[in-house]
Amino acid sequence: MAVPDEIKRRVEALRREIDYHNWRYYVLDQPVISDAEYDALMAELQRLEQRYPELVTPDSPTQRVGAPPSEAFAPVRHEVPMLSLDNAFTDEDVHDFERRVKERLGEEKIDYATEPKLDGLAVSILYENGRLVRAATRGDGYTGEDITANVRTIRSIPLRLQGSGWPDRFEARGEVFMPIEGFRQLNQWAERHGEKTFANPRNAAAGSLRQLDPRITARRPLDFFCYGFGVFPQDRLPATHHEMLETFLAWGIPVAPERSVVRGAEGCLAYYRQMLEKRDTLPYETDGVVYKVDRFDWQRRLGFTARAPRWAIAHKFPAHEATTIVEDIEIQVGRTGILTPVAKLKPVQVGGVTVSSASLHNFAEMKRKDVRIGDTVIVRRAGDVIPEVVKVIGEKRPSGARTIAPPTRCPACGSEVVEDPGGTLLRCSGGLFCPAQLKAGIKHFASRRAMDIDGLGEKLIDQLLEKGLIKDVADLYRLTVDQLEKLERMGLKSARNLVEALEKSKHTTLARFLYALGIREVGEVTAQILADHFRSLEKLMAASELELEQLPGIGPIVARHIVAFFRQPHNLDVIERLRRAGVHWETPQVDATPRPLEGKTFVFTGSLSSMSREEAKSRVEALGGKVTNSVSKKTDYVVAGEKPGSKFDKAMKLGVDVLDEEQFLDLLQQSSPSWTNLQETEHRD
Ligand code: IVH
Repeated sequence: MAVPDEIKRRVEALRREIDYHNWRYYVLDQPVISDAEYDALMAELQRLEQRYPELVTPDSPTQRVGAPPSEAFAPVRHEVPMLSLDNAFTDEDVHDFERRVKERLGEEKIDYATEPKLDGLAVSILYENGRLVRAATRGDGYTGEDITANVRTIRSIPLRLQGSGWPDRFEARGEVFMPIEGFRQLNQWAERHGEKTFANPRNAAAGSLRQLDPRITARRPLDFFCYGFGVFPQDRLPATHHEMLETFLAWGIPVAPERSVVRGAEGCLAYYRQMLEKRDTLPYETDGVVYKVDRFDWQRRLGFTARAPRWAIAHKFPAHEATTIVEDIEIQVGRTGILTPVAKLKPVQVGGVTVSSASLHNFAEMKRKDVRIGDTVIVRRAGDVIPEVVKVIGEKRPSGARTIAPPTRCPACGSEVVEDPGGTLLRCSGGLFCPAQLKAGIKHFASRRAMDIDGLGEKLIDQLLEKGLIKDVADLYRLTVDQLEKLERMGLKSARNLVEALEKSKHTTLARFLYALGIREVGEVTAQILADHFRSLEKLMAASELELEQLPGIGPIVARHIVAFFRQPHNLDVIERLRRAGVHWETPQVDATPRPLEGKTFVFTGSLSSMSREEAKSRVEALGGKVTNSVSKKTDYVVAGEKPGSKFDKAMKLGVDVLDEEQFLDLLQQSSPSWTNLQETEHRD
């Protein structure tokens, strides 16, 4: 029985619509329908395809996960070889690269397209008539493996292209990678189910892509950014690499948002520094950046060596991982008494920083990884996180490598160790009697986001406690220049500075003060919520658990900790003495105009279409921001309108955030009071 035309049309319409929503969701990150609406479209398509199996095509959105496991990957010969990149490690290497480019081209002003160097796997994706027909790994550069079924499961890769104007046959090339958050979740899941965890996102991406069963790949959080092309009709190429990427993007193929175009080696280096700074906050891992001569005619003139193009170079970041030896395992006692085993390492450079200790998180984790004194280990420092031991290199374990047992007594004060309700954490029961907890508490009190006492470091706190000059945080305000000057590594000048810093810290805010007290489970956000609500310390101190639980984000456990804290006579005494020493704050104003852009400096360049320069200026100022005329390292945002001038170039060079008009309007909107209120109400519900 022939399929009715009406059904064919409906199936086609559903596929287009689903493709469009996939693109909005996975590439643009701007969905326009709810998950439920999306599911309904998918369900309808699935129903129709089940009823009329002859309509099923490999590029149907229902087929991303459909293919059965295969025995092996078929070889794919690359029509255009997939080459590698030469590496630069220093600024000088980059200048050398540019010198060679200039000499060969006989040109002085070279623009480079710059991109993050993604840490994943190179993949080639072939499109015919707008449909994904084949995907392959790089292999040895000439022959790769057919991984079409696996690549189809990656949601951000279009099975059918958006827009129009694509050549009948072309190849997009790029990197398949696993975003950091997905990697964390995958490992957490694996741990819970007793399965093997991956050492890093790259290994996880490689392992996922090389699955013979695409149903497994489909469950892995993979993503893709395109950075170039293979087969592509010469006469259809735009003039530059960056235009090519924009074109790919318009066809629905994802490209890295952090791309840019810069002038000369200096521009490249500025981009490098900007990305290095951002590296830890990006949602994916990078091992460097890539510079490519932007103009295709110049790329052709430069050509290739046997291994790599002459028009591109990878500028590597310092490695995230290094190998070293565990010299000892110590137990650290935190501010709230938690005992953490810490591996003391033979110092080693990781990601540009010398690392000499790494957290083992807790005793269960230490046992699972089987870390022992004497072991050779891989340490990793990625993101803002503290360095950690990834794994032990078993083959290198010396005979007699020692473990340490979880202690039953606190190593700092000898108090009994108790297990936390969760079961994985051990805690010293000594409270402020424990010198380690006391020390950590004082350090926290002085920290930048708490009382912000400049110059009161760990070594100094040690000395003050040892010499009996302080017993708690309130004693800090009784220290004199005379006393301080006599301490090791202190002089008259540092002693005076510290007393001055202490004096300055007395003027604070209620939120900071509450945070500084170090009440368990009361972080900065909770402290702010408490300050905004109660507006006075006395009122907070008198609040009941029930009253506290009414506040957004405060549950029964936090409420109990707060009430318990203010019941302790010792804590009340410290608070009393702090206030008598002169620690004070203004009563928080409920209806004070919010100044969300306080401390932010803006520079405008080019013209905005939605408002005049004066209006933009007054809107920024109304929200507490400042507008200046010239760009410097201190500038927070450069807002670039139509036809931006040299300030834009300078911003790129200095690595200052550049906002286009839309982003600027978003920022204004997000910062405006009505938005803040809305958030509050949502939170409360
Ligand atoms: S361009 C002919 N751009 O790095 C030039 N490669 O070390 C082809 N990579 O095999 C490569 N991010 O897997 C290029 N933005 C980027 C990249 C990138 C990651 C990988 C790619 C390549 C390897 C070379």
